[in-house]
Amino acid sequence: MTPEQTVLDVVIVGGGMITNDLLLPSVYHLQRTGVVGRIAVCALNAPPLKALKESAELAAAFPGQTFDAYPAVSEPAAKLHPDIYKQVLARARPRQAVIVAVPDQFHFDVVMEALRCDQHVLCVKPLVLKHAQSVIIEKLALERGLFVGVEYHKRFDRRSLMAKRQYGLGQFGAFVMGEAKLIEPYYYRHSNFQNWFTTDKTDPFVYVGCHYVDLVYFITGLKPTGVSVSGVKGRFPNGNEGYLWSNGRVRYENGALLSVTDGLGYPDDAAGSNDQGLLMYCEGPGHCGMIQHDDQDRGVRHCYLDPIGCGGSRYNYVSPDFYRLVPWEGTGYKPAGYGYESVAASLETMRRVECGSAGLGAAEALARRRKLIQAVDAAGILATPANSSINELVVEAARMSILADGEWAEIIYGESPRVALRKR
Ligand SMILES: NC(=O)c1ccc[n+]([C@@H]2O[C@H](COP(=O)([O-])OP(=O)(O)OC[C@H]3O[C@@H](n4cnc5c(N)ncnc54)[C@H](O)[C@@H]3O)[C@@H](O)[C@H]2O)c1
Repeated sequence: MTPEQTVLDVVIVGGGMITNDLLLPSVYHLQRTGVVGRIAVCALNAPPLKALKESAELAAAFPGQTFDAYPAVSEPAAKLHPDIYKQVLARARPRQAVIVAVPDQFHFDVVMEALRCDQHVLCVKPLVLKHAQSVIIEKLALERGLFVGVEYHKRFDRRSLMAKRQYGLGQFGAFVMGEAKLIEPYYYRHSNFQNWFTTDKTDPFVYVGCHYVDLVYFITGLKPTGVSVSGVKGRFPNGNEGYLWSNGRVRYENGALLSVTDGLGYPDDAAGSNDQGLLMYCEGPGHCGMIQHDDQDRGVRHCYLDPIGCGGSRYNYVSPDFYRLVPWEGTGYKPAGYGYESVAASLETMRRVECGSAGLGAAEALARRRKLIQAVDAAGILATPANSSINELVVEAARMSILADGEWAEIIYGESPRVALRKR
């Protein structure tokens, strides 16, 4: 069977912002290029699914394309369906694709349910909040020959791939000191975030700082050994308390330090659409090297007649690199950018695993799928539980630290890596 003959049905669990802004458009495009078959989207209740169905932007980009909604959009808005995704997964054909896009603290349960239902998985970052959970996922997935990818799309940004190659060639020296920031827009505070982004569940370091922690590991291969994160608390419009800002430091195995500043407070009136970037200083013999990425202002500026920019602004720094709907030779528009490429790479990998083992007996096919998955782990381009679980260690250490008001949490490697607050 060739990849062209293998078409994957996709179930997206979660119908929120990331599904609207990246996942569903990417999957729609992959449907029209023949990678994806049927599409289903599950949410907690009907309103987000109704909004996706009625989106004028999606209708203009993907005319005639739609998805099966669970629950049905006609269900009362207030009625919650926390388990409907389980029924949908139980009915799915074996070894199709499940994309997990629910709030961070539910990732583990949904990923495990998908694996138990014999499905390949793509999960938005962070995969899970505890390292032990990522080990359980890795083990079950390999046992069943199922691919699990983690959607760290910044890895697919050209500048990250360039940096990884040239760092590997020794052209910068060894990373020694750096800073990263990602400040998301103020208007996020008014979104569904206020229901789940509470101090006991997550924080800006875990939510977006993890992107740059993953990136520094992706570029350098250096393992983090300790984390200290301090937070600034505030109230969401609904009164819930969350960490609205965070500042963290990550220590690496070679002694290097990365400072990471994150928040939900980039001004809606600013040209943003958020504030982000990475600066890494490196030591070499007789010279220092440097990698600097301005990930906010990528040199394209638009000023609109109406306030249609991010946060209702008119003047915007527009990133052509992450995700844009652009004209193409077919009908509607197509998604372009590293966000799309990252989603496509995981779905293409699932397809490759499936067609690489098609036509074999059950035991032989399982062995072949495992081999193909282990090759993806070893290549280290797509994030998988096997090659990116330092992220879970950092996330776990970060939560421990921020709840202890910035105490250092150590990452202890060994047979069973673990994290612990540093003894005073
Ligand atoms: N840059 C990125 O990689 C990026 C960006 C945004 C969000 N994310 C991640 O995506 C995830 C979701 O974020 P979001 O911004 O879309 O959040 P959101 O609050 O807008 O949406 C969450 C969705 O999950 C659904 N949901 C909750 N419980 C459910 C259940 N039991 N069954 C089915 N659906 C359920 C809700 O109905 C809602 O549609 C988070 O883990 C977040 O960290 C990643």
